[in-house]
Amino acid sequence: MIVPNHVAIIMDGNGRWATKRGKERSFGHLEGSKTLEKISLYAFKKGVKVLSVYAFSCDNFKRSKEEVDYLMNLFIKMFKTKMKKLKDKGIKIVFSGRKEPLREDVLKAMDKISFDTKNNQNGILNICLNYGGQEELIDASIKIANDINTNKIDIENIDKELFNKYLYNDLPVIDLLIRTSGELRVSDFMLYQMAYAEFYFTSTLFPDFNEEEFDKVLDAYDKRDRRFGSIKEN
Ligand code: FPP
Repeated sequence: MIVPNHVAIIMDGNGRWATKRGKERSFGHLEGSKTLEKISLYAFKKGVKVLSVYAFSCDNFKRSKEEVDYLMNLFIKMFKTKMKKLKDKGIKIVFSGRKEPLREDVLKAMDKISFDTKNNQNGILNICLNYGGQEELIDASIKIANDINTNKIDIENIDKELFNKYLYNDLPVIDLLIRTSGELRVSDFMLYQMAYAEFYFTSTLFPDFNEEEFDKVLDAYDKRDRRFGSIKEN
């Protein structure tokens, strides 16, 4: 079976999952955080090497202060305590996104977990937090323009590989994108890395996404015919 090297997940449907049960949206985020822990451990066990997850988009700051504060506090709690199993399994945790306007205590918790796992070799969990795909391309372009201005690089040397190094993290291309909750869109997630990704959409709300369904997704991926713009050879 061919296991995708880099899987990306848009973890959608936490709010609806909670509302359906007559609970606050925050309850859905809490359940979603448990699902993330389970699914990431399982994905690495199955042989996935890089897992990117959409934790918070730049646009999510438009939500109520109450929900944003809840999520930020949940992130801190996850980074400080709950991600221990991933650390122990040798998973390196990296972040993609802008620092501004994240709170100081969130940035500190992000720095700490990145530092503590920086030498881990068994897989990479890329947490996209205060992330936007268009913002990432703009930020990369600004850095490239600065490096051209200061003669660090030449325009002629810019190619896909070099461009990738200017993104928030120099990660391999995404092989498989999963989006839960039935929405059929990309929502500004990892646009550059997504160029040849296979898409898998499921109506399952993220807190209900489990190992069994992940296996189904892997089976479906294994049956896809990836051609990268070429034609199939016999
Ligand atoms: C989208 O569902 C989900 C989010 C904006 C938050 C995702 C966060 C987690 C899964 C928590 C754990 C994450 C980390 C990295 C520790 P939604 O709120 O848009 O759901 P809805 O579409 O049903 O309203």
